[in-house]
Amino acid sequence: MSAKTTRFGITQQLIKSLKIQLLAVALVTFLPSSIFAQVAKSAEGKKAEQKPVESAEVDPHQLPDKPGNFMGRAIAPVMSYLGADWLLRETREQEEQPEQMIDALNLKAGDVVADVGAGVGYTSVRLAKRVGTTGKVYATDIQPQMIRMLKSNIRAMKLEKVVIPTLCTATDTKLPDGEIDLIIMVDVYHECSNPIETLQGLKKALKPGGRLVLIEFRAEDPDVPIRPEHKMTLAQARKEVEAQGFKFQKNDPRLPWQHIIIFQKPE
Ligand SMILES: C[S@@+](CC[C@H](N)C(=O)[O-])C[C@H]1O[C@@H](n2cnc3c(N)ncnc32)[C@H](O)[C@@H]1O
Repeated sequence: MSAKTTRFGITQQLIKSLKIQLLAVALVTFLPSSIFAQVAKSAEGKKAEQKPVESAEVDPHQLPDKPGNFMGRAIAPVMSYLGADWLLRETREQEEQPEQMIDALNLKAGDVVADVGAGVGYTSVRLAKRVGTTGKVYATDIQPQMIRMLKSNIRAMKLEKVVIPTLCTATDTKLPDGEIDLIIMVDVYHECSNPIETLQGLKKALKPGGRLVLIEFRAEDPDVPIRPEHKMTLAQARKEVEAQGFKFQKNDPRLPWQHIIIFQKPE
C-alpha cells in the first residue's frame, strides 16, 4: 500500500476512508453533538469554553438512584458511530498518549487481551502489535457500524490473524470464558447501560488473576475538558467495580487526562 503511515501505524488512507464513510452517513442524518465538544474547542485554544456545557451545577456522582443512574452516578449516553472520526482525531495521541497507556499494562507477546468498546479499533491495533502473532485481541463493541469500520481497519493493517472483531450486547460480552489475561475499556465503562451484567461477564471471561483496566477521564480534575457524565472519579470506579468482586490493584498516574485503573479477578 502506498499510503503514508502515521507514527503509530494507522494509515492516513485509512483515516480518509473512514471520513468518507462517515460523511456519507452524515448526509442522510444529522450529526449528534459530540460528547467531547469541549475537547475540540480546547484544541483550538478556547480555554474559556472548557466549562462543561451540561449539568454544570450537578455533581453526576452524587445523584439519587433511578433509571439511568447507577450507584449515585449518571450513566452516560453511548457515543454514536456517527462521531467515529473523532476517535482518530490528530490531537488524540497528544491528549491520551496511547502508547504510554499500553506501556502501563506490561503486556507480553502471546497474551490474550480484550478491548471492550473498541470503537473503530484505535487501541486494538496498538494492542495487537504488543501481543504479536502468538497473541489475540478480542475487539468488541455494541454498535454494528463500529464493528464494520473496525473490520475494515484491521484488514487494511493486515491484523486479521490477531484481532477478532466481536459484536457484543450490553448484557453479554460475547467473550470466551476464562481465556483472557487482560481486558481494557478505553473511555467506555461510564457508558455501559448494564454495568453489573457487563462486569460479571468480564469477570467470567478473565483467567483467575487476570486484570480489568478502566481508562477514564479524571472527574477529580476540572481542567480535563470533557462533559461530567463522561468522566469518573477513582473512588466511584472502585466502588462500582469492587462491588462486583474485583480486587483493586492500582491507579497509574502517567496520563495527562485519564486514570489507568487496574483491577484483578481474584485467583
Ligand atoms: C467513546 S467510544 C471509545 C471507543 C474506543 N474505546 C476508543 O477509545 O477509541 C465508546 C465505545 O464504547 C461502546 N460501548 C458502549 N457501551 C458498551 C458496552 N456495554 N459494551 C461494549 N461496548 C460498549 C460504544 O459503542 C463506543 O464505540
